[in-house]
Amino acid sequence: RPPAIIAPSILSSDFARLADECKRMVDLGADWLHVDVMDGHFVPNLTLGAPIVASLRKHTDAFLDCHLMTTNPELWVKDFAKAGADMITFHLEAAAGPGPDDWHSLAPDQPHPAVVDMCHGVRAAGMHVGLALKPATPVELAVPYVEQGLVDMVLVMTVEPGFGGQSFMADKAAKAAVLRKKFPDLLIQVDGGLAPATVDRAAAAGANVIVAGSAVFGAADPGVVIQQLRESVTA
Ligand code: DX5
Ligand code: ZN
Repeated sequence: RPPAIIAPSILSSDFARLADECKRMVDLGADWLHVDVMDGHFVPNLTLGAPIVASLRKHTDAFLDCHLMTTNPELWVKDFAKAGADMITFHLEAAAGPGPDDWHSLAPDQPHPAVVDMCHGVRAAGMHVGLALKPATPVELAVPYVEQGLVDMVLVMTVEPGFGGQSFMADKAAKAAVLRKKFPDLLIQVDGGLAPATVDRAAAAGANVIVAGSAVFGAADPGVVIQQLRESVTA
């Protein structure tokens, strides 16, 4: 599997001191910074958008991994590229249509044209592309996009997207194992409830990109937590 990448989620940081918080995490060993973008439609919470990413870009060279929990993600590609985002991970469910149940129209053997367009659009804008799956979305639906080389990463959500600090859904980590078996080199990200106490399950399933918000920012020594998460993936 690819090397371990530890990505603290800045959702759990002090937004008024964002640049300092990001610098602190990078100094403590973070590989990426995970930026949770919520629009109040796709998820029942509102966070931040491209203007914050643009401001942050002036203070850090770190890889900015932007997780778009928005409907119509294609609307934001240009703004995030201009802001200096390194990667956009969008939700398969959102790209298939604006309704919450539109993903039911997706077939496991046939790429959905809107999802394909979104993948091409993100790369054409100069960013890496990730495809995110909510807990209830079958992992098989991601396979055609990976097979066709359209995505760099698949994000397996291990909580219902919308909030930090929720409990890890251990059974969802098994979705990573299905992907790892088929795709030895794929970046597989897990997000939600990851901590030193839960990461082993995700790492054993083959995940290599670990997002952690509350576990890292809530720790007395975030550097130790980052190191523990890394060791679990490397073990
Ligand atoms: C949840 C977000 C996560 C969140 C994780 O919707 O996508 O990235 O910040 O927070 P923790 O690690 O606290 O579960
Ligand atoms: Zn996230």
